[in-house]
Amino acid sequence: MPSLVEIARSFHSGNPVTKPLRYYEIYERSLSEEGLQPQSILEIGVYEGESTKILASRFPSARIVALDLNLRDIDFSNYANITYLQCDQTDASRIRGILDEHFPNGVDFVIDDASHIGHLSRLTFDCVFPYLKSGGLYVVEDWGTGYMETWVDGRRFEHAKTASSAAIIPKTIRSHDFGMVGFVKSLADYTAVGDITDTRASRGSLLARLILSAARFRSLTKLANRFPRLKSWLIGRINGSGETTSSPVANPRADIPQLRSLKFFHGVCVACKA
Ligand SMILES: C[S@@+](CC[C@H](N)C(=O)[O-])C[C@H]1O[C@@H](n2cnc3c(N)ncnc32)[C@H](O)[C@@H]1O
Repeated sequence: MPSLVEIARSFHSGNPVTKPLRYYEIYERSLSEEGLQPQSILEIGVYEGESTKILASRFPSARIVALDLNLRDIDFSNYANITYLQCDQTDASRIRGILDEHFPNGVDFVIDDASHIGHLSRLTFDCVFPYLKSGGLYVVEDWGTGYMETWVDGRRFEHAKTASSAAIIPKTIRSHDFGMVGFVKSLADYTAVGDITDTRASRGSLLARLILSAARFRSLTKLANRFPRLKSWLIGRINGSGETTSSPVANPRADIPQLRSLKFFHGVCVACKA
């Protein structure tokens, strides 16, 4: 079977609205790295159907559901495996209905090539990611639009002015918290699900935070080291043993999308579900 990019070469119109050939190389490689032969593919953002036809030709046994806000008059008659439907990427209830109907057992491969607007793409991710199978790939295309000053929610890259001392570097650098760049950066959090849900982070009792702050002072650490029982009591408070307050997050893992890996390429972000 020819690769995605080999097939794409025979279709490629060169129209800048369609994806560049290198994206197909990235997808072929990413699928092969995960050992994934997708049997269920969701494409959001079809335009004139070029990428949909390429996917359908490369994975003839896969079922492909292709959604777009504006249905065009595209001839998919040679592709029995494509279902082409009108759908807004922000319409979560319609998307769920479509996925429940066509992919009741989940989906292997998702490509969001629709609006490229951060908060809309985020809505789609939140709705679709739970349907992704373990080991499945979720692709966010064209996140680089977030660096374009002219893009609707884009902003050009700027170096943040931070002082050289690590102690006073702000925790949040307010460059690109929003838009497509902010969206894909937020996905990085989900690769750290273990740390996010760590007892110390999720409980964060006032006492634990006070102890951790005090531990920064060497003299106090030295003092604690001289009293092993005090030290182990303090460590117990930090780790949450004997805490009477319950975690503010009832089941912290349930609502955090679990990513096995997150890869950034020029133009494309590929998230693999754990
Ligand atoms: C970049 S084009 C898709 C190109 C196509 N995947 C390809 O590579 O040949 C983006 C498509 O997303 C659609 N779109 C834009 N906003 C959308 C939304 N909110 N929901 C669904 N589709 C949307 C547009 O109608 C357009 O057809």
